[in-house]
Amino acid sequence: MDMIASRNDSAKHSSVLDTRAFRGVCGLFVTGVTVITSQAGGEPVGVTVNSFTSVSLDPPLVLFCIHHLSRVWPVIEQTESFAVNILAEDQAEVCRAFATKAHPHFSTVKSRYGATGVPILDDALGYLECTLHRVIDGGDHLIVIGRVVDFGAQREDGPLTFFRSGHLRLEI
Ligand SMILES: Cc1cc2nc3c(=O)[nH]c(=O)nc-3n(C[C@H](O)[C@H](O)[C@H](O)COP(=O)(O)O)c2cc1C
Repeated sequence: MDMIASRNDSAKHSSVLDTRAFRGVCGLFVTGVTVITSQAGGEPVGVTVNSFTSVSLDPPLVLFCIHHLSRVWPVIEQTESFAVNILAEDQAEVCRAFATKAHPHFSTVKSRYGATGVPILDDALGYLECTLHRVIDGGDHLIVIGRVVDFGAQREDGPLTFFRSGHLRLEI
């Protein structure tokens, strides 16, 4: 009983007071890496995101979380559409490029426009094109749920991963 109380206290302490340690523990969960893209007024935008997950098969729903001050979020909110581009193992440079606020991101990648007008990265492993389904408050992030309207697999290589702030090479 005492031990449970003390564990709870310690968990509370680390999540409230030590953001860096909290991020470190979350970073022990290995993920893939995506670039979320959208477009308004002919200007494509994109941001690196690893908070992507699938949600539902019927209807087909996926989600990602984005910081509420993101430069890309207002574009998605306006157009109500976005694409999830799943990065391949040789796209660490693309991951880095879309994780900065520097422009222009799209000069370094080949892309085309999908059915809803959002950019699709040609060299991504695969993509999911979505319309905006629902947005949920998630603290300093927004939980963005999209309804998949088109998708495709484009390559058969391994994925780019994210673990402890770096990339792990998977043997497949
Ligand atoms: C591997 C990786 C994963 C990331 N995942 C997310 C994420 O899930 N949500 C998020 O808001 N930012 C995430 N970021 C940070 C954004 O990519 C970064 O802050 C970017 O500059 C935000 O751009 P914007 O504010 O111009 O939209 C991630 C960065 C990296 C390198």
